[in-house]
Amino acid sequence: MLIIILKTVAAVMIIVALILFYGIWIERYLVRFNRYTIPVPNLPDAFNGFRIVHISDVHLSPLVPYRFLKWLFQKVDRMEKDIIVCTGDYVLGRNVPSRVDKVWTLLRGLHAPYGVYSVLGNCDYWADAERSSKLLAQSGQDIQDKTAVIEKNGGRLWLAGAGDFMEHHIPLDRILQSVPGNDCRIVLAHNPDSADTDFKERIDLMLAGHTHGGQIVIPFYGIPKLPVENKTYSFGLKRSPKNHLVFISKGIGWGIFPGRINCLPEIPILTLIPAAQQKPLKG
Ligand SMILES: [Fe+2]
Repeated sequence: MLIIILKTVAAVMIIVALILFYGIWIERYLVRFNRYTIPVPNLPDAFNGFRIVHISDVHLSPLVPYRFLKWLFQKVDRMEKDIIVCTGDYVLGRNVPSRVDKVWTLLRGLHAPYGVYSVLGNCDYWADAERSSKLLAQSGQDIQDKTAVIEKNGGRLWLAGAGDFMEHHIPLDRILQSVPGNDCRIVLAHNPDSADTDFKERIDLMLAGHTHGGQIVIPFYGIPKLPVENKTYSFGLKRSPKNHLVFISKGIGWGIFPGRINCLPEIPILTLIPAAQQKPLKG
């Protein structure tokens, strides 16, 4: 009997060790370029089929090295797209200004026909708030606490950048007040909890990251720990309690657990269509 118990314990330990090895050394690098079709209310016809590459939570660190991110960004560079949006957490670690400098050499190299638009995440403030803000401002991609309009064939699409929910909270109403009432509005936020903050302005879509998809997804159970207040904001397209569409990327990097299990990292490619033409959300 004792031998059976010992063999069972040993087998369980080996399986757990193999899963951890896979999560830390393999799955973390299996980045998917997932394509999603997103039905957007008030989207002008001119933006039907508009493609957004969404980069989030790259978390430059020893386990997410520069050369790996450079290889991913080169892939993004070769992709057909209209804009690139970056929703923060570009490094991992506290007080790591050299990492901030390094990751911005990559971010600055991103290009898209209608522009690149970026905001900061909580980890960018923890790494070096002043340096992150300065490099964002110098990048030509800065949309934090601001709006930008994209004009195409007589149609207008507005982008607005929310401040980080945890470290730089600016009311969305203050950011969106200059956008004409009926124009389509897409908000870039690091943390999807920003969708549940107190604001009255209409938004048509929010793009966010922060959760890393939970990093570990256990079959028949779900996600053990999600770093958001609204636990429905895991990954993919969700509806907020205020009935706003919120898309959450699983991102690239990691937070507390240095790996991923059953939660592949991703760079989503979003194709916008008018809400009336709603189709399956992924495919
Ligand atoms: Fe993150």
